[in-house]
Amino acid sequence: MSKIAVIFGSGARIGQASAKKFLSAGYKVATVSRTPQTTSDDDLVHLTADLQDPSTIEPIFDQVQQRWGAPSVVVYNAYGMYPTGGNPLSAPINEFTKTLSANTISAYAAASASYKRNNQVAFFYTGNALNTTVMPTLVTLGVGKTASAHWIEAAAKSEQLRPARFYYIDQRNQAGAPAGNAVNGEAHADLFLKLAEQKEQGEPIVVFKA
Ligand SMILES: NC(=O)c1ccc[n+]([C@@H]2O[C@H](COP(=O)([O-])OP(=O)(O)OC[C@H]3O[C@@H](n4cnc5c(N)ncnc54)[C@H](OP(=O)(O)O)[C@@H]3O)[C@@H](O)[C@H]2O)c1
Repeated sequence: MSKIAVIFGSGARIGQASAKKFLSAGYKVATVSRTPQTTSDDDLVHLTADLQDPSTIEPIFDQVQQRWGAPSVVVYNAYGMYPTGGNPLSAPINEFTKTLSANTISAYAAASASYKRNNQVAFFYTGNALNTTVMPTLVTLGVGKTASAHWIEAAAKSEQLRPARFYYIDQRNQAGAPAGNAVNGEAHADLFLKLAEQKEQGEPIVVFKA
């Protein structure tokens, strides 16, 4: 099976570090975000999509498959958040819908599309502590992380989906608190690659300190 990784959300921290890590491990890598980027490596391509719209997912997998084949690793690192301040019920419904799509529905679509194309895929979702902690100002993000943790655990528990593996990754700081702005891209990239090379499904909710 070819080593092909798709990284949804290619920001300067986790996304870029992960792209570099998988490239250096011999993978062909497609990154995805709304902003066009040029690449100068034959093994790296950047594709544009707005992940607030889940219908963009299948065409991304079509493009990667036509170019290289079915991905063996998928990292879903994009996210959406609408600020609600002190009133967690104040998000306009269209904004709530868009963030839920970016945080959950497109991620689910990516897991589903990748599994259909390669039942050995390793799927990683960049989470945080909001699947177990409620912070009222971050409700739109927290709803999406919580929902994604749920279907990821379900996919990890479902024997009929093996040998595919599904993980929700939650980095904490050394004190065990949410990493927040101290998020460590390199540590995420190392963990994604390590788990990708591990053929057994491990505990799907991975909380690690870095
Ligand atoms: N463990 C923790 O405490 C912790 C801390 C921080 C972050 N995180 C998680 O880590 C992940 C990445 O965070 P980060 O801070 O590294 O983000 P970042 O650097 O801002 O990167 C996010 C990427 O997602 C893309 N993106 C955002 N919305 C998109 C959309 N609608 N469609 C397509 N692409 C989109 C952005 O590119 P464009 O804007 O060009 O589309 C960017 O490439 C998130 O899931 C976040 O929740 C966890």
